[in-house]
Amino acid sequence: MDIGLFIPIGNNGWLISENAPQYKPSFEMNKKLVQTAEGYGFDFALSMIKLRGFGGKTEFWDYNLESFTLMSALAAVTSKIKLFASTAILTLPPAMVARMAVTIDSVAPGRFGVNVVTGWAKGEYEQMGMWPGDAYFGHRYDYASEYVQVMKDLWAEGKSDFKGEHFQMEDCHMQPKPSTGKIEIVGAGQSARGMEFVSNYGDYNFVTAGGLNKPTKHAPTVEALVEAAAKTGRDVGAYILCMVIADETDEKAMAKWQSYREGADVDALAWMSDQGAADKTAGEGSTARHINLPEGAVNLGIGTFVGSYETVAKLLDEAASVPGTKGIMLTFDDFEQGLVNFGEKVQPLMACRQDRLVAA
Ligand SMILES: Cc1cc2nc3c(=O)[nH]c(=O)nc-3n(C[C@H](O)[C@H](O)[C@H](O)COP(=O)(O)O)c2cc1C
Repeated sequence: MDIGLFIPIGNNGWLISENAPQYKPSFEMNKKLVQTAEGYGFDFALSMIKLRGFGGKTEFWDYNLESFTLMSALAAVTSKIKLFASTAILTLPPAMVARMAVTIDSVAPGRFGVNVVTGWAKGEYEQMGMWPGDAYFGHRYDYASEYVQVMKDLWAEGKSDFKGEHFQMEDCHMQPKPSTGKIEIVGAGQSARGMEFVSNYGDYNFVTAGGLNKPTKHAPTVEALVEAAAKTGRDVGAYILCMVIADETDEKAMAKWQSYREGADVDALAWMSDQGAADKTAGEGSTARHINLPEGAVNLGIGTFVGSYETVAKLLDEAASVPGTKGIMLTFDDFEQGLVNFGEKVQPLMACRQDRLVAA
């Protein structure tokens, strides 16, 4: 079972709460985290691309570094861990991203891959004059398919003459080719079309099912991915995404989760869901805006494993046991301490990681 780290490239990681650790992203912080993860035998680290934050009191995600440039720097200060950067495909041409990828591959041979982001938040692109119109929602995976085909042509052949609806290459050249002959592609679509896309072009798909301590909730989504992959005959693995909140006891860990929920940044959440804005009657202190927050809203609906180190290890083992699951990507409430606690106290208890620990 692979283990990965979803690195905090945006401020405050994945907790939209005034009671959560407040920090801004930096190279130094992410370097320390990725080097620590590498030391604990993590298999990969991935950074997202987010181009507009949610605002609110915590200015959630208003501070975000750029994914490829950060991963290039991290490639230079690591030696084993695989690194994935995210391309927002509306912002960067595929021939350019293909070249950026081989550049990072030359820094970290065989350790670099690309996460393909179709884009769902129109505001991120509209602010830069890069939103192609709402029809894009309907054909974003067609666009992504052509995009990846261009990159694959260039990586495999060093040239592309691809002619599609969205991209036309004219004797487009690019050298060098990737050091190992390929650059891995990952996606994070949960829709049927997203799964089909990854089944045709990707190596892994991220799945997130939400919920508190529901370790097998992602099973139907993984099943859908396995079925989609069976149609293409390609080997596509499911990587699940979850947040770990661990402490000495279940009670202490649960108290932290409760506190994060109580401190929810309702304005940032409203921006995200657009629902707070719709309900004009819900005031700042209203029950509707606090208590009735969906359980997972405060961490963007990411599946959340809360408990003692033993409890969390057991939950992660259960999650890993879902057929088709090839890896788990982790986020933490408190990244620095959470990662160390995971490496020292949780991972050694995980049955699904024993082979890797022995090998290390
Ligand atoms: C692990 C993971 C990484 C993601 N990375 C990004 C990202 O970098 N930028 C972004 O805008 N959305 C990102 N997303 C969100 C998905 O790309 C988004 O939900 C996508 O639109 C899903 O499409 P769907 O309609 O097929 O479910 C990520 C989601 C997951 C689970």
